[in-house]
Amino acid sequence: MIVSSNLTPGKNGLKGWTADDVVNVLKKGIDKDGNALCPPMPFGPNGAFGGLTASDALDIATYITTLAPADSDIIPLCVAPAAPPAGGASSGGAPGAAV
Ligand code: HEM
Repeated sequence: MIVSSNLTPGKNGLKGWTADDVVNVLKKGIDKDGNALCPPMPFGPNGAFGGLTASDALDIATYITTLAPADSDIIPLCVAPAAPPAGGASSGGAPGAAV
């Protein structure tokens, strides 16, 4: 099963994330710890979110950082596939990589 992440600063969420960290997810598909994300979020240079302007990405990210904490017992367990070569496949990665 594919599940999204808790985007609030609650349990299993984005505690300590800055707006720039969220921008990096949207524009680059890289999380706060420098790890690649799993699909199906359309992140990164080859995904829809990669086409956001810097200003729009920052606006979305700034909003995300204002969310009140809500706890989640869901722990994302996916391990992202290796990044495709530059200019290679889409950001989607291998289907079904998430659990
Ligand atoms: C503006 C809209 C969105 C924002 C701001 C957003 C933000 C984020 C962020 C910051 C993370 C990283 C969380 C972490 O590493 O702990 C994340 C993960 C994730 N998002 Fe999104 N997201 C958005 C839309 C979507 C959409 C449209 C989908 C699915 C179609 C999606 C699916 C996921 C999934 C499955 C993960 C977990 C990926 C992993 O654990 O590697 N997101 N999202």
